[in-house]
Amino acid sequence: MSSNVIGAGILGMGSALPERVLTNSDLEKMVDTSDEWIIKRTGISERRILDKGEPVFQLGVKAAERAISDAGIASEDIDLIIAATTSPDYVFPQMSCMIQSKIGAKKAAAFDMNVACSGFVYAMSVAKQFIASGTYKYILIIGCEGLSKLTDWEDRNTCVLFGDGAGAAVMGPVENGYGVLSTYLGADGEMGNVLTLPFCCFTQADLDVRPNKNKNVIWMDGGEVFKFAVKIMEQASLRAIEDANLKVEDIDFVFPHQANIRIIDGALKRLGFTHEKMHLVIQKYGNISSASIPVAMDEALREGKIKKGDNIVLVGFGGGLTWASAVIKWSK
Ligand code: UT7
Repeated sequence: MSSNVIGAGILGMGSALPERVLTNSDLEKMVDTSDEWIIKRTGISERRILDKGEPVFQLGVKAAERAISDAGIASEDIDLIIAATTSPDYVFPQMSCMIQSKIGAKKAAAFDMNVACSGFVYAMSVAKQFIASGTYKYILIIGCEGLSKLTDWEDRNTCVLFGDGAGAAVMGPVENGYGVLSTYLGADGEMGNVLTLPFCCFTQADLDVRPNKNKNVIWMDGGEVFKFAVKIMEQASLRAIEDANLKVEDIDFVFPHQANIRIIDGALKRLGFTHEKMHLVIQKYGNISSASIPVAMDEALREGKIKKGDNIVLVGFGGGLTWASAVIKWSK
């Protein structure tokens, strides 16, 4: 989809991270790993972790308040809230409703969306349709995760990877020709078993692969996810660029999902997207799933790296397996 009835873009952004820092040397004391291995194989030095009783949605509230203030609107103006999350505090009330209540967005409809790490770009695509059709004017989308609550802290294959955080955007009408130019979404359910988090119902196989037989933790076949991610990040980027009627050379900045620096390099260097065209946060936050793209965008904006008219690619992949990409012409 590349044609807009009403141009839809990002009017404001915000992010929030927990205070507590968990370093690679902290992890060396918990599992058989090393700072050197983690940095070399993933690019991660440290991550932010919520304290035990600290709820996940509070990060979303902080990120949302910052995005609303940055957009220069009032909470009461928001028509819809979409929370992209795989780690809600409750199944219901939904995270989107919990955030709605705290920020006082009284007239907003609200729902959660679970598309794992692809969630923020999926949410952006849905929001764009509502704005372009004239159904809603202001939509708050939030990627908010507390993966530390779903991590097996004795499994070195996964516990070194994840962190907690939230990033939010207020979307609304923008000048025609600006905003979201294209979105491309996809899924391959046949590959779903390489990255799993059981909930109500689970199989013996789900228990067997988990070292501590605990169903409520993330498990993945890292190698399979890695191969899939490298392939799909390149393909999805190209597809969104093509759908926006642009060429790779027209792209000024790229925000990939940040799961592993080797995935980013393997997928995107070939397209000429070097680190100079990115804002990397993986070294300090780890993989924060649906929050990874908006947190990086918010930081890049605050550092003045993005200017009006820049063509920006967002591209992510995640559990499902799923993927999503978008091209935005920055409108602020
Ligand atoms: O957001 C979407 C979700 N996740 C991802 O995108 C992650 C995708 N996958 C990856 O990033 C990588 O596959 C990992 C970082 C998970 C693993 O890196 P790898 O280079 O693919 O390592 P590997 O799984 O092939 O393991 C190599 C060795 C193994 O030892 P042996 O069997 O060769 O003796 C592992 O047991 O490294 C070992 N290993 C570790 N060693 C030290 C695995 N984890 C660790 C660790 N510290 N934390």
